Amino acid sequence: MIELTSVSKYYSSGFLCRKRAYVVNDVSLAIRKGETLGLAGESGSGKSTLARMMIRLVEPSAGRIVFDGIDLLALKKPALRQLRPRMQIVFQDPDTSLDPRLTIGASVAEPLVVWQKAGRHERDDRVIELFGMVGLQPELADRRPFELSGGQKQRAALARAIALEPEFLVLDEPTAALDLSVQAQILSLVQVLQKRMNLTLLFISHDLQLIGRMSDSMAVLHEGRLVESGKTDAILRRPSDPYTIRLLEAARESEEWFGKDK
Ligand SMILES: Nc1ncnc2c1ncn2[C@@H]1O[C@H](COP(=O)(O)OP(=O)(O)OP(=O)(O)O)[C@@H](O)[C@H]1O
Ligand SMILES: [Mg+2]
Repeated sequence: MIELTSVSKYYSSGFLCRKRAYVVNDVSLAIRKGETLGLAGESGSGKSTLARMMIRLVEPSAGRIVFDGIDLLALKKPALRQLRPRMQIVFQDPDTSLDPRLTIGASVAEPLVVWQKAGRHERDDRVIELFGMVGLQPELADRRPFELSGGQKQRAALARAIALEPEFLVLDEPTAALDLSVQAQILSLVQVLQKRMNLTLLFISHDLQLIGRMSDSMAVLHEGRLVESGKTDAILRRPSDPYTIRLLEAARESEEWFGKDK
């Protein structure tokens, strides 16, 4: 479905922009249709930058990205725009996905309006359907984001993201701002939607337990470089890179600290 070859991103600085700070460095990976790739790594390792390059919200400095057979980086603006509905993103902070001035209903309807999907009445029906799909009561449609809980907002962000029936969905730490029980509900919802819509997912988290639960294969970023990638089960059972081992140990320690069956 999506394939990256030697993708890098650097920001230039200094005299004549001669200094290059690599944020993502020579990353190659692939996600198969309908599967989930878990992307792990500590804060600042380049996860969000890599994810945004995969849907060309951030322009890569080098490398090649192929989306469903299409050379993503060769596309000019109009062709890229045509592709937009097929790839969507849900951010860590739902307030990034939702306009504070719009009602939740209007936010979820917005992609349908922009892409002129359906007439007014059909659109209203579709919004109600989308609310149902993400488990939001239709009464909430008239509220604004500040009148919802974090979990409800993230459900609304999901509804908006799936409104145009994307094939590829990026979830950038979608539950990092939520408490554990709400986190579990949202993640189950994501799995249900994935099955129902045959979604290909990039699931970003610094939490290896969540990566283990959500993903078929996984990749670990460290200072912008891919230090490990492969089947999730195999990596979590027997990590080969010292950095992954450290991350796993840290996860186990925090488990012991906070109790195991949370
Ligand atoms: N526009 C920019 N100019 C310069 N540096 C940037 C820019 N955007 C991001 N960076 C740097 O790139 C690095 C990686 O950032 P990124 O947001 O991709 O990390 P991350 O792994 O998603 O972190 P987190 O887990 O905290 O979300 C950071 O050091 C950040 O400061
Ligand atoms: Mg990030």
